[in-house]
Amino acid sequence: MKLFLDTAEIDDIAALNSTGLIDGVTTNPSLIAKSGRDMVETIAEISGMVDGPVSAEVTATDSDEMLAEGRKLAAIAENIAVKVPLTPSGLATCKALADDGIMVNVTLCFSPAQALLAAKAGARFISPFIGRLDDLGRDGMGLIADIVTIYANYDYPTEVLVASVRGVQHVVDAALIGADVATVPPSVIHAMYKHPMTDKGLEAFLSDWAKTGQSIL
Ligand code: E4P
Repeated sequence: MKLFLDTAEIDDIAALNSTGLIDGVTTNPSLIAKSGRDMVETIAEISGMVDGPVSAEVTATDSDEMLAEGRKLAAIAENIAVKVPLTPSGLATCKALADDGIMVNVTLCFSPAQALLAAKAGARFISPFIGRLDDLGRDGMGLIADIVTIYANYDYPTEVLVASVRGVQHVVDAALIGADVATVPPSVIHAMYKHPMTDKGLEAFLSDWAKTGQSIL
């Protein structure tokens, strides 16, 4: 499964990108606002730093303006995936951009029916928001399972990009279902490294090693 970073914070992206474990980045207007930086500059910086897809979201709501924004964002770098909302205008924009060979990430997906439309519109990625569904007491991971099944039934090439991830278990459950990508905040990546038994085991190994008085180097 690919792991994308869900942030617009350059320092976090630089630090985690250097691990070689990160396959791409997703941003949205809220994350850009939180960074306090200029969007186009930030996206250009991120796309120059990361080899994989970098999602940059349009902010217009009508098709013509959305398409113009999408083309401007796509021109920033070859690895830009233009992010459009799952609305009629968003899907029309998706179709137009995809027909031009531009990667499109259709975002704000909350149902299997929406995901089916996005695949038919040529989306490279569909972003179902599982955490926001869980917040409402709904089954976010059930949505991922449904979309994975529907796409497999018809061999749709659209990748299921699990979004609105709240913790490590979301990543694990998404991987068990076979989702293509999970986009996760930096804090979740850091949490994925951790297990108390790893810390405890290492402490014991190092304590025993110290008693030997040996040194490898
Ligand atoms: C990613 O593409 C989404 O914009 C993001 O995962 C949304 O996450 P949130 O529900 O935590 O805002």
